[in-house]
Amino acid sequence: MHVPQKVLTNADLEKMVETTDEWIQSRTGIRERRVAEVGTTTSDLAYEAAVEALQQAKLAAKDVELLIVATTTPDMLFPSTSCLVQQRLGATGAVGFDVSAACSGSVFAMITAQQYLLTGRYRNALVIGAEVLSSFIDWTDRSTCVLFGDGAGACVMQPVSRGGILATDMGSDGSAAEMLYMPGGGSKYPPSHSSVDQRLHFLRMNGTEVFKVAVRRMAESAKRVMADAKLTPEHVECFIPHQANTRIIEAVAKFADLPIEKVYMNLQRYGNTSAASNLIALYEAVRDGVIKRDDHVVMVAFGAGLTWGSLLLQW
Ligand code: COA
Repeated sequence: MHVPQKVLTNADLEKMVETTDEWIQSRTGIRERRVAEVGTTTSDLAYEAAVEALQQAKLAAKDVELLIVATTTPDMLFPSTSCLVQQRLGATGAVGFDVSAACSGSVFAMITAQQYLLTGRYRNALVIGAEVLSSFIDWTDRSTCVLFGDGAGACVMQPVSRGGILATDMGSDGSAAEMLYMPGGGSKYPPSHSSVDQRLHFLRMNGTEVFKVAVRRMAESAKRVMADAKLTPEHVECFIPHQANTRIIEAVAKFADLPIEKVYMNLQRYGNTSAASNLIALYEAVRDGVIKRDDHVVMVAFGAGLTWGSLLLQW
């Protein structure tokens, strides 16, 4: 994983918008988040995380065959961020493309890579979730700017003879697209003086509605992968939910009967890093010994689209 050095605390936000540390912590659980310096791009963070993942997997960049970057905040609309990361890594034998599934991105990208590994088409996949959300946040909108942060997580995926991904689930519902979206910058509202004046190039969200759907979809999805793998929450050692909000996570745990002490959370320190969130959480849970060899882990995500997904893996 890689996060920018700069820490933006709730106290810092108190000086920027009308908010309080107490409001942010009680509604979201977030204490601080990382924010990239101006000029630092999503591919910069993705590259750093990828280098570490390749080192840990003892895999040379030239041997990567599939390189998927999940991001909502690409360096540019095109080329894909994965092509930019491929170039910096020297992963010349890989095919790279991006997955656009907002905060469900890392789970969607891992499931996509898994499918290529299962068919035998590729044997070495590098999956990255990376975001510089701070570039797309309206820093005058207190209802959204307190929630998000920047960062990247990465993993190498290869065929395994035991364990690995045992069950997956993905879903989407475009009827709720405008619950969480950034209207400007695409073909609908190309950049113009008017689009900038209307602040169309910033993230917009109906937080209350997103909250409700997120809880329901994530709880259903987590239950589905456990049922598919014929496991119950007792068999699962660690749940890695998308790190959006402690209240959402606690409600998901309640509705899916997941013991809260098995639910991993690090959003206090990073906020919602969207497509990077599940992979950063997985990284820290493994690093800190929360996840051990053979443990069953359920990763569950939810994001704009709306999108949701889960995977159940044996580490
Ligand atoms: N500081 C202080 N007050 C704030 C605030 C802030 N940063 N942001 C909003 N408020 C105010 C609102 O303006 C509102 O004031 P009003 O009642 O005078 O209109 C009040 O707080 C309550 O807002 P409300 O939206 O009802 O709060 P909430 O309990 O729903 O919590 C969220 C707001 C955003 C924390 C919550 O809806 C949420 O977490 N939603 C999901 C967001 C998310 O995780 N999205 C990503 C999913 S991938």
